[in-house]
Amino acid sequence: MDGNGRWAKARGLPRIKGHEAGAQAVRECVEGCGELKVEYLTLYAFSAENWQRPKGEILSLMRLLEKFLKEKTPELIEKNVRLQAIGRLTDLPESSQEQLHKTIEQTAGNNGLTLILALSYGGRLEIIDGIKSLLRAIELGHIDKGMIDVEMFSKHLYTRYYPDPDLLIRTSGEMRLSNFLLWQMSYTELYVTPKLWPDFTKKDLFAAVEEYGRRQRRYGGVE
Ligand code: IPE
Ligand code: MG
Repeated sequence: MDGNGRWAKARGLPRIKGHEAGAQAVRECVEGCGELKVEYLTLYAFSAENWQRPKGEILSLMRLLEKFLKEKTPELIEKNVRLQAIGRLTDLPESSQEQLHKTIEQTAGNNGLTLILALSYGGRLEIIDGIKSLLRAIELGHIDKGMIDVEMFSKHLYTRYYPDPDLLIRTSGEMRLSNFLLWQMSYTELYVTPKLWPDFTKKDLFAAVEEYGRRQRRYGGVE
């Protein structure tokens, strides 16, 4: 969800106003995914690298996250959305963790869209954590190192319960992955739009999904 800062700057507003506008775009996107019967939507909300930002911006983002979760939980329940989270969640402030776990619990019984927030998430860190988890399983004698394959490693990642993404939408025109779901995106279709995240509407989402529908996925094979 890139471009909040540029959106604010273009209007002479502080960056946090861009993040607030971005939170509104999330609502549209979640609603749109519900209508399209998308099963999983992962939002890259805060990266492991975002901790390098000024303290004030980090604090505002964490407050916004808590406010968003608190305010939107009834709506998530009403729309049958199940909230989940991936990343080094224990890096988040206590109060954010508490609110996050509250919303996760309160939406656990929903079986519509699974909305996954990537928070303090880094793809390389996830792979490192996956390796550590595998080593632990070997030490405990649960698995033998000869058994390690792609499928097994996938089960040691934060995303073990979710399928690999079919489509990546990147806003604000940047042509990079920025350490997002590196392992999982081997065969993900990429879609880049110049629109800044706060300007991304349901219509833009539908356009991306339509374009996805025209792609031919061969996974390295032939037709
Ligand atoms: C993305 O918008 C939102 C978060 C990282 C939370 P940016 O803050 O990266 O916006 P730009 O890139 O400065 O425009
Ligand atoms: Mg950015």
